[in-house]
Amino acid sequence: MPCIFDQPDDDFCETFWAYISRKASDRQKITLNSSCHHGYLTFLHKGNQKRRYFILKDSFLYYCKSYKDLRIIKYTNISWKRLEVFTETQEKLEKFGFKIVGSRGSMDFYVDNEDSLAKWLPSLQQQMINIDIEDDYIFIKEVGKGNFGYVFEGECIENRSKVAIKSITKSMVKRSYLERIVKEIEILRKIRHPYIVNILRVYESEDCVHLVLDYVEGGELYQTILHKSKFSERKVAKFANKFLQLMVFMQEKNIVHRDLKPENILLVNKNRITNFKLCDFGFAEEASDEGLDLVCGSPGYVAPEILNQQKYYFKADVFSLGIILYILLSGRAPFSGIKAAEILKKNKKCHIVFYNKYWRNISPEAAAFVSKLTDISPLSRYSAVEALNDKWLQMNHKKQKFNEAEKTFIPLEIPVVSPQTRDPDWQSGNDKILSIYDMKKLSKNEPLKKLTEMRRPSNTHIKGVIKELRMFDLALMKR
Ligand SMILES: Nc1ncnc2c1ncn2[C@@H]1O[C@H](COP(=O)(O)OP(=O)(O)O)[C@@H](O)[C@H]1O
Ligand SMILES: [Mg+2]
Repeated sequence: MPCIFDQPDDDFCETFWAYISRKASDRQKITLNSSCHHGYLTFLHKGNQKRRYFILKDSFLYYCKSYKDLRIIKYTNISWKRLEVFTETQEKLEKFGFKIVGSRGSMDFYVDNEDSLAKWLPSLQQQMINIDIEDDYIFIKEVGKGNFGYVFEGECIENRSKVAIKSITKSMVKRSYLERIVKEIEILRKIRHPYIVNILRVYESEDCVHLVLDYVEGGELYQTILHKSKFSERKVAKFANKFLQLMVFMQEKNIVHRDLKPENILLVNKNRITNFKLCDFGFAEEASDEGLDLVCGSPGYVAPEILNQQKYYFKADVFSLGIILYILLSGRAPFSGIKAAEILKKNKKCHIVFYNKYWRNISPEAAAFVSKLTDISPLSRYSAVEALNDKWLQMNHKKQKFNEAEKTFIPLEIPVVSPQTRDPDWQSGNDKILSIYDMKKLSKNEPLKKLTEMRRPSNTHIKGVIKELRMFDLALMKR
């Protein structure tokens, strides 16, 4: 299989090195800081050995004449280039170095000794595409099934730390999905944050792409909802407050996640919802001024403007968060149903009811907050910043209690479908994951089983929450 990172490498520059200016007087001086790794490296140039000063800053390797002259002569983006570490023995002398392989050529760099190599490697390994995952990590067991691959628990051979490895078999997926993986990596590298799962390294072999991530111990929020079903307003407000802060950060970075749901929120400690890490940026995208238009997300969580094929922005994520909060507070999903098509239909209509049966012990301010997040119109829907200033959130954040007498109950409107009445196929399906939807088929309201021969989970429903349902712009997957 061809290297999937050649294309993005090509997109950066048509040559291995990029020049700011060929004129020495125009060259800018680089400022060193604690995040840079720098030092002399030797390489062969037209058969002669050359020694120059190199600075590795984020995903760029800068080439300068010497430590005394830090004006940048040329630079290269190493994000999508492959890293090959080598040791050569020449006339009983060991030489250490690394090769940087890009779509437009490669270059060998030699370091002075093994210690120097050990200092260069961590930053290079973090920023580049590595080759042999088996040299660095042990696969322990499967912990999650992704839509297009598996997630494993792994162990770092060097320091024995626990990691998660998301592996995708290239031949199993379409080119367009491989492009999504590239995007996922790009975004994860760009938006490091304490509430986002941290990407450690990326590997690509002949057959697979592996994303090595910090392991998040407490499992999916989904599992916790299964286990606990309802959470106190105080806890939910704390969760919402943190999540909205994360959303403000993502908005500053111009990122829309597009698949917020309990399966993609991992808990640091089992059953404690207030300490989480967001994962799965497989559908995340950088928003342009014109907005986004790809129809994607998960039935039951997706913003109605996406289903109505309108342009959408950051507020699409706000909607999904609103649905998650509805579930956390009431233990019920607002759009329940037997078939995905049914859920999508309700999701699109977006008539959200706060049933007295499930909401009577919850403050009206909490319900009002959820309503503002799940408003059908993105115009009147809260933005993340507006939501952070909401009365209920603020009150709970300040640890004040609502007066019981202040609570007004919202009347029960229509009955909720109980989980037992759902399609038995859902419960008895094999343990594979149903993950892909053809929107055209969905709109025909066909039963789920007929929609796809793909895999489905054994435990599909939690009180209306649907496990691993995803739909997006017509089958990205190779079938
Ligand atoms: N860093 C991690 N630590 C622990 N479990 C993880 C981690 N990343 C993913 N998982 C598990 O694997 C599942 C699938 O991963 P995800 O990134 O959501 O893949 P997909 O895009 O295929 O849904 C998650 O829902 C979670 O259960
Ligand atoms: Mg996922």
